[in-house]
Amino acid sequence: MGFFNFKNKKIQLEDDIDETMYLSLKEERRIAKENKKVFRDYTKLKRRKNVSEEEYLTQMRDSANVVEIDDLHTYFYTDVGTVKSVNGVSFDVPQGKIVGVVGESGCGKSVTSLSLMQLVQAPTGQIVSGSIRYQDATGKCYEITDMPTDAMLHIRGKDIAMIFQEPMTSLNPVFKIGNQMDEVVLLHVEDATRESAKERSIEMLNLVGIADVEKVYDSYPHELSGGMRQRVMIAMALSCDPRLIIADEPTTALDVTIQAQILELLREVKDRIHGSIMLITHDLGVIAEMADLVVVMYAGRIVEKGTVQEIFKNPKHPYTIGLMKSRPGSQNTGDRLYSIKGQVPNPINMPPYCYFYNRCDKAFAPCSQSYPELMQFSKTHFANCHLYDPKYASNLKDEKMEKQNG
Ligand SMILES: Nc1ncnc2c1ncn2[C@@H]1O[C@H](COP(=O)(O)OP(=O)(O)O)[C@@H](O)[C@H]1O
Ligand code: SF4
Ligand SMILES: [Mg+2]
Repeated sequence: MGFFNFKNKKIQLEDDIDETMYLSLKEERRIAKENKKVFRDYTKLKRRKNVSEEEYLTQMRDSANVVEIDDLHTYFYTDVGTVKSVNGVSFDVPQGKIVGVVGESGCGKSVTSLSLMQLVQAPTGQIVSGSIRYQDATGKCYEITDMPTDAMLHIRGKDIAMIFQEPMTSLNPVFKIGNQMDEVVLLHVEDATRESAKERSIEMLNLVGIADVEKVYDSYPHELSGGMRQRVMIAMALSCDPRLIIADEPTTALDVTIQAQILELLREVKDRIHGSIMLITHDLGVIAEMADLVVVMYAGRIVEKGTVQEIFKNPKHPYTIGLMKSRPGSQNTGDRLYSIKGQVPNPINMPPYCYFYNRCDKAFAPCSQSYPELMQFSKTHFANCHLYDPKYASNLKDEKMEKQNG
């Protein structure tokens, strides 16, 4: 453990603590002052009133996509420095497809999806740069990062719905399920009346396979099981015919049989509404079963993306390969579950080279010198790793020779 320094504040308790992790009081004051300015500027921007639509209407790169994310940066301006939670993320969600976003806990999956909903915890959390484009059913395209909060309210929960890991955090414990579901319909569906809202809620509860619909409609959230609550959340998300469902670890809190049922339900639902799903999980098994396309995240960046076949049959990035090995039931594990050694770098102080360097068993000289460029393997398959960069092919050959010789 690092030594205790009187004047300085220790910000992370690790065994081999780095000097740069100490903050002087002067440094602390500087950060606080800078953050205050950042908060003021962003808050002003978000609260703009009467903004004409022209300011945030845009064009998609490809009209077959519902969402296009380009070079997204979402930071948290904390007391100890700027956490670059999402640090240059780009991927598309095509119409009618399930895109799986996978990576260890803390790699920025949730912050990416919250950015898409403009739900990142402000003022600390802010989308700093990049583009998130969304195409609605009429073909109109919105630049979400430019939308003021009140305009975003029309899209959030209606066009794009979100299902969280723990439904209790999104359900209000003091209102009955029926009331909460009706509210969503009343808020988002034009000309909805109390009666039509109830009808819609009941229809959705039926759709998600709830047997005793009237009873559930009249229950409080705590009276239902976890699996049942997740069904209610899905029913609620569906009640406004969303074009995109973001499901953030939707089955993590459930036991295995219920998990399979909920996944099956999500798939059915997607086909029924002809929508898309962004499925966030740390579980590769879920991805293999559900996703059409896969995005692998590590420390705020995408390290590999491709179709589910490409990622599972032919993973390129050593991190993806490590994830595959650490899957329960994978052949390479033997008796024990393989886990990737080492720690993710400190998010406040990312190195200027490959973020996976300290954990990678394939690392060679260039890996500690620069961040790898995007390498393309097919129309859909990409990874950021120096191993595949033709520029470094000779380094790789030399290192192999050295190893063989000694
Ligand atoms: N409100 C917050 N304040 C500061 N840092 C945050 C906040 N929310 C998330 N982070 C940081 O952002 C990073 C990404 O978090 P998250 O997207 O939640 O990860 P996950 O991939 O597990 O969903 C983590 O390092 C986390 O500590
Ligand atoms: S760039 Fe180097 S350190 Fe990074 S994943 Fe590839 S081989 Fe490993
Ligand atoms: Mg998360």
